[in-house]
Amino acid sequence: MEKKHSRTLVTCALPYANGPVHIGHLAGVYVPADIYVRYLRLKGEDVLYVCGSDEHGVPITIKARQQGCTPQDVVDKYHRIIKDSFSGLGINFDIYSRTSSDVHKENASEFFRKLYDGGKFITKESEQYYDPEAKTFLADRYIVGTCPKCGAEGAYGDQCEKCGSTLSPEELLNPKSKLSGAEPVKKKTTHWYLPLDKYEGWLSEWILDSHKEWRSNVYGQCKSWIDGGLQPRAVSRDLDWGVPVPVEGAEGKVLYVWFDAPIGYISNTKELLPQSWEKWWKSEDTKLVHFIGKDNIVFHCIVFPSMLKAYGDGYILPENVPANEFLNLEGDKISTSRNWAVWAHEYLEQFPGKEDVLRYVLTANAPETKDNDFSWKDFQARNNSELVAIFGNFVNRAVVLTHKYFGGKVPAAGELLDIDRAALAEIPALKAGMEKNLDGYHFREALKDAMSIARVGNKYISDTEPWKVAKTDMDRCATILNVSLQICASLAIAFEPFLPFSAGKLRDMLGVCICAGYDHRAGERETVNTYTCSEGAALHTVPAGHDSACCQEDGRVCLKWEMLGNPDLLPEGHTIAEAALLFAKIEDDAIQAQLDRLAAIREEKEAAAAAEAAKVVTPQKDEVTFDDFMKMDIRTATVLEAERVPKTDKLLKLSIDTGIDRRTIVSGIAEFYAPEDMVGKQICILANLAPRKIRGIESCGMILMARQNDGKMRFITPAEALCNGAEIG
Ligand code: 2FM
Ligand code: ZN
Repeated sequence: MEKKHSRTLVTCALPYANGPVHIGHLAGVYVPADIYVRYLRLKGEDVLYVCGSDEHGVPITIKARQQGCTPQDVVDKYHRIIKDSFSGLGINFDIYSRTSSDVHKENASEFFRKLYDGGKFITKESEQYYDPEAKTFLADRYIVGTCPKCGAEGAYGDQCEKCGSTLSPEELLNPKSKLSGAEPVKKKTTHWYLPLDKYEGWLSEWILDSHKEWRSNVYGQCKSWIDGGLQPRAVSRDLDWGVPVPVEGAEGKVLYVWFDAPIGYISNTKELLPQSWEKWWKSEDTKLVHFIGKDNIVFHCIVFPSMLKAYGDGYILPENVPANEFLNLEGDKISTSRNWAVWAHEYLEQFPGKEDVLRYVLTANAPETKDNDFSWKDFQARNNSELVAIFGNFVNRAVVLTHKYFGGKVPAAGELLDIDRAALAEIPALKAGMEKNLDGYHFREALKDAMSIARVGNKYISDTEPWKVAKTDMDRCATILNVSLQICASLAIAFEPFLPFSAGKLRDMLGVCICAGYDHRAGERETVNTYTCSEGAALHTVPAGHDSACCQEDGRVCLKWEMLGNPDLLPEGHTIAEAALLFAKIEDDAIQAQLDRLAAIREEKEAAAAAEAAKVVTPQKDEVTFDDFMKMDIRTATVLEAERVPKTDKLLKLSIDTGIDRRTIVSGIAEFYAPEDMVGKQICILANLAPRKIRGIESCGMILMARQNDGKMRFITPAEALCNGAEIG
């Protein structure tokens, strides 16, 4: 049984501020976390929602070099873009700060210093590559050379991007510094290490014995790390970008980015709540949940907990770490360097008003148990045939008909028939399913349950046909529309976590607001908390401890999670607004534009791969004697006629003037030349090749072709026009 907590602290992996966020990040971390937070708040729970930019690490310095600017410029630019993308998608953290903040620098330094003073680190001397010209140690990414596995040039000291092999800088052939081009030399350096091996037994008990309920991918990765034996991990680096190691004699050394980044969760909490942050991090009443991608598991389940354990002082550990797998795009791995991605900020520009569509599709396809794929056709289909055709259509019919027949006032329900009761009875069961799934971090399934409520409504209104009933029985029509509107109100609650913009529109239409719980964006101005309310779509501030009764006092209907499924959410006579479109169809041209962009990138990649392949030259063949060569009669000739050999893709039948005679040669070049490309061309042929029958045609000789290694072939033509039959040799 999970312990009952008084509050929940939700953290999302701090994204690196070296590029914008894309759909892989959103589906893996931020959309599920946001659903979870909104759900808990809707239930009235106290939640703190923390994130920020991860602004240290080597990739940021590399990006700065590529862009000819400073690392600070890079993080300033992307911090802003990322922050805006999140809020554009309705992902509203209580705080979105950055690891370059003063609070963080101080906090991370203090954290290191306490472990250092407490003797929690060991030091080790090792030899690392050093650039003697630039006079600096080189991070793995700053060393390039020939890949020992595939022979590609330009492989990095940690990875070959050509063959995907993980490398160490020592394995690279002909290593060179990316900074100066100099050959790096080995130089001794000392670093601090956290001896994870000492925490192995404790980690094993805490995770392997006590958290068997964690997702199998998370539990499995932890198990294989622990079973494999943990090694001390360096927590400092020789680099000039990061939080300086706060120890004498550590000039030129900074905290390793993976040491300082998770401390950023604590720093950001401190920044927002300088007086009360500790209750979020050091009280057993707090439930801590880290939302991350699968590449972050070891840091959040093994390294950071060991850091907290080493620090002591009552820091709590995560109750759960729901890590997702990866999302692919149109069948290929997302690649930021290749621009094979859908970027959040571009999406928001290109699909204004469709924030929820992306949230919906990313949740419906969330890579919760395995890698999953995002495709634009699926995006379109889910919008058009689910959001528009089911959810939107149902709400629209209920609202439009209420205006048509009852002047926009909720009509009275008469006696319910079986069909009414059956529809209404389905919703509490779906609510229970949603709760089970949301509490268990199964967001895809929870969304299916929510969508099933819309399906119930859509089927109900189609089956009961109030537009026909209105012709004969207005009381019955009133009952049907009352039931339909009650289902709409349930939808406004059920979809708040998933589709906050559309749920808000729906609430406006129904003239209701929702008590979506307190958030802490107001920080520590303790006298006020804020909670979202559909009224005016703005946050209103209320005295701390006040609940949603304020809405009811004004005579408005204020919905809460526990009311989902109630058959009487909207009172008789309650006024609803005119129907507004919840979702709009996405046309083919919008999708085609996205597919065209990706096709161009794919073509570029294929062309680059072909050009790369063409550079490779096949080895020389076995030696021949001069006499062997002299046996070959190679001559110039001209193509007089050319036609395809019927029922073949590759063959052309050519009629040739060889200077000696006119003859036929069948050649496998139709893949590269159309018949009309060949007529009139001067070529070279092997004239004395023994004739042979190809597809029933006698071919006398062979056309000389050059074949590149990408398979592309070109005929050989004299540099200037010659007479036919000129001997080559
Ligand atoms: O993988 C990443 O994008 C990292 N920047 C995540 C850091 S999470 C936390 F530890 F800060
Ligand atoms: Zn390689």
